[in-house]
Amino acid sequence: MRSASASPLALRVSGRRLLDRIDELAAIGAIEGTQGCARLALTDADRRGRDLVTASMRDLGMEVAVDGVGNVVGIWCGAATDASLAPVMTGSHIDTVRTGGRYDGNLGVLAGLEVVETLSEAGASPTRPIAVAFFTNEEGARFPPDMLGSLVYVGGMPLEDALDITGIDGTNVGAELEKIGYRGAAPCPATPPHAFVELHIEQGPVLDTEGFVIGAVEGVQGISWTELTIVGQSNHAGTTPMHLRHDAGYVAAAVTTFVRDLALESGGTQVGTVGALTLHPNLVNVIASRATMRVDLRNTDEARLGEAEARLATFCDELAAREGVTVEARRLARFEPVDFDPSLVDKVAATAAALGHRARRMPSGAGHDAQMLARVCPAAMIFIPSVAGISHNPAEFTDPAHLEAGANVLLHLLIDLAGGLC
Ligand code: GLV
Ligand code: MN
Ligand code: MN
Repeated sequence: MRSASASPLALRVSGRRLLDRIDELAAIGAIEGTQGCARLALTDADRRGRDLVTASMRDLGMEVAVDGVGNVVGIWCGAATDASLAPVMTGSHIDTVRTGGRYDGNLGVLAGLEVVETLSEAGASPTRPIAVAFFTNEEGARFPPDMLGSLVYVGGMPLEDALDITGIDGTNVGAELEKIGYRGAAPCPATPPHAFVELHIEQGPVLDTEGFVIGAVEGVQGISWTELTIVGQSNHAGTTPMHLRHDAGYVAAAVTTFVRDLALESGGTQVGTVGALTLHPNLVNVIASRATMRVDLRNTDEARLGEAEARLATFCDELAAREGVTVEARRLARFEPVDFDPSLVDKVAATAAALGHRARRMPSGAGHDAQMLARVCPAAMIFIPSVAGISHNPAEFTDPAHLEAGANVLLHLLIDLAGGLC
């Protein structure tokens, strides 16, 4: 047993153990021939991932609770920890997009377990309990919006509304939760933790390109997801003159290029993506009668994000009138930009510095559960590099030395936030 009380700063996580945990979880829903994972929220693969992580929590002596939307929180106390104090929480998500990597979200949860194991092995007792959480459906790839579990956890959406959400495959959140056995009894909204820190891969190229090991995340950009349903008229592709068409396929394509041009013209941090598009009847010689598409717009500036949304709406109206189609918009997700607690961001940078890493201060381009926790407690994030900035792709990769470095920053930040070791 290593002694924690003499010099807490000398404590280190086991990089090997962390990698083993990542490998074990990544084997569930593994995408053949790749390092990636397909564990869409509330599928059977998600259940098996959940079962593995909750079993690990119990093996570590954590008290595990599952709430009404399937968020799982494990709480750990050392021998001298004051269990009556609000815990310091870490964690993230273990659902993935269908073509996901093995680090996105998973790292933050498994690094939390590694911190607990490190403290436990050292016989250390933080003054406050340490909680490790994984939140339901962070990705939003099956059930919009993203960050659903953490949104409900902080009271940002009533539980009943969340349980009612329909997924891309026509399934329902409540029914799927029941099916996988994760509709729990713990209340949500929950009592806020003392503070929340999430370790995550950057999922972008900045740290890797600039040679930083640690990012101190200052906030998360705003996110807007809209589903557009375009209805035109099916007709024969050979006989219908171009000027007499009501082509939903053409309108979808024009909206797609508009989204890209809009982002490029707006400049700044504006990004725009059409990542989902379906045509009906989707046949080579039939003009499409219907197109369903999903538009993702993001910006660190709320006013500029609002402008982008307004320009898209105007473009759709004008195009619909010109082409004789209807375009119906349905909002799937809308979250304003979030600033993390400045003193906690400073602590991330100071903890990294104490461990020999100069932190790069930066915004997050991706959405994260920490942005929801920021509504109810001081919250911040630690980023580590993604090689070549690749993510939401089975090829996602982070150097094992960087995984370990991030987990050590998390360890010492959690010790600090938990009031030190008693
Ligand atoms: C979540 O991963 C998102 O930012 O889309
Ligand atoms: Mn993530
Ligand atoms: Mn993701």
